[in-house]
Amino acid sequence: MELMTKVKNFESHDLLQAQEQLWNHIFVYLKSMTLKCAVELGIPDAIHNHGGSIAHPELLAALSLPPSRSPHLRRLMRMLTHSGFFATRRSPGSGDEEEEEEEDVYLLTPLSYLLVNDNNSLSLSPFVLAMLDPYLVDPSSSMSSWFRSCERTPFQMVNGWGFWDMAGRDGKLNRIFNDGMASDGRFVMDVVVKEHGDVFQGVTSLVDVGGGIGAAARAIAEAFEIRCSVLDLPHVVGNIATDGVVEFVAGNMFDRIPPADAVLLKWILHNWTDEECVKILQQCKEAIPPKEAGGKVIILDVVIDFNLETKSKETQLLVDLLMMVGCGSFERNEKEWRKIIWEAGFSDYKIMPVLGFRSIIELYP
Ligand SMILES: C[S@@+](CC[C@H](N)C(=O)[O-])C[C@H]1O[C@@H](n2cnc3c(N)ncnc32)[C@H](O)[C@@H]1O
Repeated sequence: MELMTKVKNFESHDLLQAQEQLWNHIFVYLKSMTLKCAVELGIPDAIHNHGGSIAHPELLAALSLPPSRSPHLRRLMRMLTHSGFFATRRSPGSGDEEEEEEEDVYLLTPLSYLLVNDNNSLSLSPFVLAMLDPYLVDPSSSMSSWFRSCERTPFQMVNGWGFWDMAGRDGKLNRIFNDGMASDGRFVMDVVVKEHGDVFQGVTSLVDVGGGIGAAARAIAEAFEIRCSVLDLPHVVGNIATDGVVEFVAGNMFDRIPPADAVLLKWILHNWTDEECVKILQQCKEAIPPKEAGGKVIILDVVIDFNLETKSKETQLLVDLLMMVGCGSFERNEKEWRKIIWEAGFSDYKIMPVLGFRSIIELYP
């Protein structure tokens, strides 16, 4: 049957539904961009500073936007409210009594509370800004050229350098990325130390490998009697002074990892190929004591399909593509994790799917 005839044979209702799905997929990037815009404008902070709710004209004023942007701000807020970032209610306007109109009042929701910066060490706004920076977003529009090229990643093809080299060359990217990762570290470690502190039982020293500017290590050091250090590249930790809570070591995890009871690898192994992961894990094994003496590696990462909630699966698949675009690596299922764990010479492992779309994985030497 000819293609045209085939398409024409579908019910109009099904065709329109398919077209709607196509349009949604085309324009869904605007959801990310409205979120970025809200964080850059400081909308969650403005509502919070106004007591948790704010009428439309007051929001416009609080953001110092020109009156001509008022209808556009309304459209931005309509989309973000539709996505669950804000709630709205109607309240009488403050104008002339005769012509008094109702005003939109915007309220924070649990989702937008995650974006409020004001004294909120758990704010994920820096993570939003890092992940939606053009450096990270733009290479994804060159995926098809990359598929036909020999470059390791779309990021490298567009920028001429791999991600970690680029962060070492561009101070702004380095700062935005490290701040973004630190906000994720503070947020998720708050849950880990509160709900899963047994992971650290018996551990007296820990090195957070690729630990960025030390947010996760700090959370652990402050919650438990554990001596914590961070190993990361010189452009990340070179200028951070050791402050008595966390010690910083500039180095390369492929060369040497300082000795400790436990190694933390948060959001590290998904950045690397199997071969590279095996090398990193072998260095970890060198750094820790035997299993009987309490040695372990604690990994925070995705295990594809281990957590079967639909939303989590989609988030896992999106992060997998981010890894393809940025790092030339991928998110692993249990079988793929097992392969690198055995190859690196570990004797056992335990996966705990307790962090939403991410898991805690313990490896024993
Ligand atoms: C995705 S970030 C994760 C940061 C932190 N663990 C977290 O989850 O918030 C990866 C980290 O690995 C670091 N890194 C990359 N290559 C490295 C290497 N060869 N040796 C040590 N750290 C490295 C990066 O600088 C970056 O801080």
